[in-house]
Amino acid sequence: MARISITLLMSLFLISSLYAPSLCCPQYQRAALLQFKSLLVGTKQDFLQSWNTTSSDCCQWELVTCHSAATNSEQVITALELSSLTPYLGLDNVTSRALVPLFQIQTLVSLDISFNYIIGEFPGAELANLTNLVHLHMQGNRFSGYIPSQLFSLRNLEQLYMHNNLFEGPLDGNLGKLTRLKEFLLDGNLVSGEIPEEIGNLANLQKLSLAGNKLSGKIPASLSSLKGLAYLDLSHNHFSNEIPPQIGNLLNISYLSLSNNTLSGQIPQQIQNLEQLERLELGNNLLSGEIPMELFHLKNLKRLELWRNKLGEWNIMSRIPKSNLIYLDVSENELSGSIPLWLAKFDLLHLSLSSNKLEGSLPPSLFQSQTLEFLDLSNNRLSGTLPESIGEATDLKSLSLSGNVLSGPIPRSFSKLSRLVWLDLSRNRFSGDLSSVFSPTSSLIIVQLGHNEFSGVLPQSLENLHQLAMLHLHDNKITGEIPSVLSQISGLITLSLRNNYLQGQIPYNLSSLQYLLVLDLSSNNLSGTIPASLGKLSAMARRNDALESYDVMLHLPSIFRITPQRLQPPSLELFWKNNRQELPLGNLGDYIVLDLSSNQLDGQIPSTLGDLQNLKSLNLSHNRLTGKVPESFRGMKNLESLDLSHNNLSGVIAPSLGKLPRLSYWDLSKNRLVGCIPNGPQRDTLDNPRLSANKGGCRMQVQRQIQS
Ligand SMILES: *[C@@H]1O[C@H](CO)[C@@H](O)[C@H](O)[C@H]1NC(C)=O
Ligand SMILES: *[C@@H]1O[C@H](CO)[C@@H](O)[C@H](O)[C@H]1NC(C)=O
Ligand SMILES: *[C@@H]1O[C@H](CO)[C@@H](O)[C@H](O)[C@H]1NC(C)=O
Ligand SMILES: *[C@@H]1O[C@H](CO)[C@@H](O)[C@H](O)[C@H]1NC(C)=O
Ligand SMILES: *[C@@H]1O[C@H](CO)[C@@H](O)[C@H](O)[C@H]1NC(C)=O
Ligand SMILES: *[C@@H]1O[C@H](CO)[C@@H](O)[C@H](O)[C@H]1NC(C)=O
Ligand SMILES: *[C@@H]1O[C@H](CO)[C@@H](O)[C@H](O)[C@H]1NC(C)=O
Ligand SMILES: *[C@@H]1O[C@H](CO)[C@@H](O)[C@H](O)[C@H]1NC(C)=O
Ligand SMILES: *[C@@H]1O[C@H](CO)[C@@H](O)[C@H](O)[C@H]1NC(C)=O
Repeated sequence: MARISITLLMSLFLISSLYAPSLCCPQYQRAALLQFKSLLVGTKQDFLQSWNTTSSDCCQWELVTCHSAATNSEQVITALELSSLTPYLGLDNVTSRALVPLFQIQTLVSLDISFNYIIGEFPGAELANLTNLVHLHMQGNRFSGYIPSQLFSLRNLEQLYMHNNLFEGPLDGNLGKLTRLKEFLLDGNLVSGEIPEEIGNLANLQKLSLAGNKLSGKIPASLSSLKGLAYLDLSHNHFSNEIPPQIGNLLNISYLSLSNNTLSGQIPQQIQNLEQLERLELGNNLLSGEIPMELFHLKNLKRLELWRNKLGEWNIMSRIPKSNLIYLDVSENELSGSIPLWLAKFDLLHLSLSSNKLEGSLPPSLFQSQTLEFLDLSNNRLSGTLPESIGEATDLKSLSLSGNVLSGPIPRSFSKLSRLVWLDLSRNRFSGDLSSVFSPTSSLIIVQLGHNEFSGVLPQSLENLHQLAMLHLHDNKITGEIPSVLSQISGLITLSLRNNYLQGQIPYNLSSLQYLLVLDLSSNNLSGTIPASLGKLSAMARRNDALESYDVMLHLPSIFRITPQRLQPPSLELFWKNNRQELPLGNLGDYIVLDLSSNQLDGQIPSTLGDLQNLKSLNLSHNRLTGKVPESFRGMKNLESLDLSHNNLSGVIAPSLGKLPRLSYWDLSKNRLVGCIPNGPQRDTLDNPRLSANKGGCRMQVQRQIQS
């Protein structure tokens, strides 16, 4: 019995000593990993726990992959997945020297050190040892300095991801030696100079992105030898001259972006050869001449962006285009003539022709579409009426026709657009009442109808628009009273009824609009007193960081099936520091405004207005207000502009008013106020006192503007 056990034990020992080395990684590789760990995390041992001194086989460690070496049965490390370690550890100061131990592991085939925000130059000399590397992922760090030349000796590289770093200097022609490269991503760095001709040697390249660098010069024609290239992004650089016609040789290309450069000349006809092309982006260049109609015959082309160029016309051919295009943006060009009828034949989801010189009327067929979600024809010279067919575009979610000379009433059928979320008809000559716009089934969130000739009263149906966040009806001819049902649009953030013919009192319960940040009722014929309840407008009164930093644009794009790349935030024309300005409402906290100026309001200013601590601009000028400037105004810590001029205010100006920390503009002129406004904490560089019809014992500065 004993003998048997001993033999058994012996044979077990024999077996284990024979096979044990084959389970273990080489000790120098294990040591290298431990050294890397200690450089990375110091003594934080609770991280990468399996990487420890008591565990001998590093092939068993997390994030490590081993394979049997070809020559013997020994296991060696072939892959390290070291992505996003430092964010997890809360470290943002790891330097590139921490990587040096890893470069001893010559057997590495795949190394991923992405998203670690590592600082410093990439350790080039040591890198040269990793001649087996096929995949090198170093994106999302802060590597700086020149691209290490040793990189170009890693001849086996197929994937080289270097995007989002701080690499600078020129792109070395030795890049051409990496002939096995399939994917080279260098976008989001500071690389300058020209693309070397040798790039044409990378015969296996399928994906190349050099976007967002400082590259300049011509786009090299040698790129055209990259026959397998499927993805090419050279956008956001300083490339100039013409697009080389040889681009037509990139027969496998499906994504091509050259946007945001200074490319000039015409779009080469040869682009029509690119039959695999799905997405072509040439926006923000200096391209001129015709839009080649051949583009609309590329059967795979889904998205075409030609915005912000100098393109003058459509090159109409006899062949009627047959396109599968779903996204077309030709805004900010010099297109003239009328909207081409053939556009209506495409099943477009997104069409933007804004900021051109298009004229003529809106083709009714444009709206006979079951697909169209986004239509922007703003800032052209379009005239005529909105066709009755508008009601057929039932998928429409965003419609902008602003800045044209369109006229007439909104057709009844408009009320069928129950998916419409964003409507901008501002700066036209639309007339008639608003009942078709505010139908009970509406989903509208943003409504911009300013500068038109809309008339009639505000419809009661407004109470159904529960989603409405922005209602801009300024500069129209709306009559009647402000309906108190407005207070039921509980999500309202901005409301402008400026410059209409509204009369009657300001509804008491507007104060229940708890998200309201802009209330502009100025230049109407409103009478009665200012409701004391306005002091309860809670977004203006209590700090609500969530709302103040609410970026409209972060939330809107999700409603579209294809995200429009260049969605501009809605804007609103307001009096801001004595200037009438069109202000962008991307970030809602930027403008918190209460403007009741130029009405017939009388009585005293309710002291509750002093509770509106978030308010940045208060304008009560040009009314018939009497009594004192409330003492409570000293609580308006964020007030930048205060205009109480042209009233009948009396009494002594409270010295505390001059101490409001942000106040940079005020006007108290044309009242019967007494006293001096003491110098506040603001800079006194520009004093612009308007001595006015106030009566007082001393030289008063009743109007003052401080420029910073
Ligand atoms: C060391 O790593 C091994 C696995 O590699 C693990 O089982 C062990 O718990 C670790 N020891 C410590 C102290 O973390
Ligand atoms: C890096 O950051 C960590 C944590 O914030 C800190 O403990 C360490 O001292 C820093 N090291 C250097 C060299 O600044
Ligand atoms: C590179 O490899 C050589 C030979 O294999 C070795 O002697 C040297 O230490 C390695 N260099 C680094 C930095 O690991
Ligand atoms: C064309 O591009 C695709 C990727 O879209 C790729 O899989 C294919 O290999 C490429 N063709 C050639 C001939 O390189
Ligand atoms: C275009 O690129 C330049 C340089 O990279 C950048 O500063 C600018 O913001 C970009 N413009 C647009 C509209 O993206
Ligand atoms: C506001 O007052 C009107 C009547 O004056 C009333 O019909 C409406 O329900 C009130 N709204 C709110 C939200 O209190
Ligand atoms: C303004 O309203 C008053 C009544 O409050 C009225 O007498 C006057 O005619 C109105 N003015 C205009 C221009 O509508
Ligand atoms: C207040 O409104 C009036 C017009 O209603 C305008 O003239 C004035 O400039 C505004 N004040 C400020 C400070 O913007
Ligand atoms: C201003 O108010 C006083 C009474 O407080 C009144 O006598 C005077 O007529 C008012 N002036 C104007 C222009 O309304």
